Amino acid sequence: MSQKVLFLERSKGPFVVANAPILKPGPGQVSVKVISAALNPVDWKIQAYDFFVQNYPAVLGTDVAGDVEEIGEGVEGFAKGDKVFFQGYFVNEMAGFQQYTLIPADIVGKIPSNIDYAQASSIPLGFTTPAIGIMSENGLALNPSFDSNVSFSGKPAFVFGGSTSVGQYAIQIFKFLGFSTIVTYASARHTDFLKSLGATHVINRAEVSVDNLAEAVKKIANAPIENAFDGVGDDASLAACLDSLAEGGKLASVNPEAKDRGDGKKVFTIFGSSHAPQNRNFGRTLWKHLPKMVQDGTIVPNRVEKLPNGLAGIDDGFKKMKGNQVSGAKLIVFPQETV
Ligand SMILES: NC(=O)c1ccc[n+]([C@@H]2O[C@H](COP(=O)([O-])OP(=O)(O)OC[C@H]3O[C@@H](n4cnc5c(N)ncnc54)[C@H](OP(=O)(O)O)[C@@H]3O)[C@@H](O)[C@H]2O)c1
Repeated sequence: MSQKVLFLERSKGPFVVANAPILKPGPGQVSVKVISAALNPVDWKIQAYDFFVQNYPAVLGTDVAGDVEEIGEGVEGFAKGDKVFFQGYFVNEMAGFQQYTLIPADIVGKIPSNIDYAQASSIPLGFTTPAIGIMSENGLALNPSFDSNVSFSGKPAFVFGGSTSVGQYAIQIFKFLGFSTIVTYASARHTDFLKSLGATHVINRAEVSVDNLAEAVKKIANAPIENAFDGVGDDASLAACLDSLAEGGKLASVNPEAKDRGDGKKVFTIFGSSHAPQNRNFGRTLWKHLPKMVQDGTIVPNRVEKLPNGLAGIDDGFKKMKGNQVSGAKLIVFPQETV
């Protein structure tokens, strides 16, 4: 049996659709027919800068939703046909931009009945990244066990870049953790949506410059900010986040190179994958809780923008992302539509 796969042919090379065998699941794995897959900045950045991937041709794609096709030895709790969502990884057999993929069964969730495949595939990387950064021991460690009794009521938090995919989930995580004031920085057109997710204040980035942001955030918060999340990860966002924090405050950043300034405020960089050994225990806990949190409305998916042409449509999606033409939405493809 063969399938269509989108290969990154070589380091910094082109994406091409080709045929490849469908793999059987190993022990502890399930194989999944990929119904929808989301595009992320990391995918086009791998093509542009060549990192994470060890072998070419490479298959990318870290957000998957689909149907369980086959069950590997020792797997319990899943049956053929179950609708599931999970994170792909940077090895070909576990990546998302193909028609069939494999995934260890301990880091898979069943898609809740209130969302569709496209919405489900908007969640895994976007949610896992701030969850690791804010909740896990590898980040701010605010609630590694997803204990619903943990509450930071009365405290403020700040999210730089609330309309990014990761920022939308960060806002919802701070809300889940009971923060009373959640301030974010985003384009004004997203204000109502970000407030519906839990932001209490949205600072319009067209009105307040990054240089003046920390003062504006502190004024709104009206209490020391001990916790923040940076969903943009450039030098300006790092400086604004650190300036917003109180003495001894902690920041989780999407930028793997982000460093603290030696002023007592601590920066935690995030590797947003539940596959990674250092995140695996937390990842298992996350995938136990996430489907319920989506079902009960605690976590709302990103808005999705559906692309045509299956796997062949992905390259056009990357062009939109690189051109900053994606705002407050996740681009989604349907690999089974590939001709
Ligand atoms: N470390 C990790 O493991 C990890 C994991 C996932 C993502 N990331 C990184 O995190 C970043 C965000 O990823 P994503 O997928 O969430 O992004 P995304 O949804 O594709 O980001 C698009 C959004 O970025 C917003 N934006 C861009 N520049 C901004 C700025 N200066 N201030 C405020 N908002 C700004 C835009 O806001 P407007 O619509 O308001 O213009 C737009 O809505 C990327 O750099 C990505 O590579 C890292």
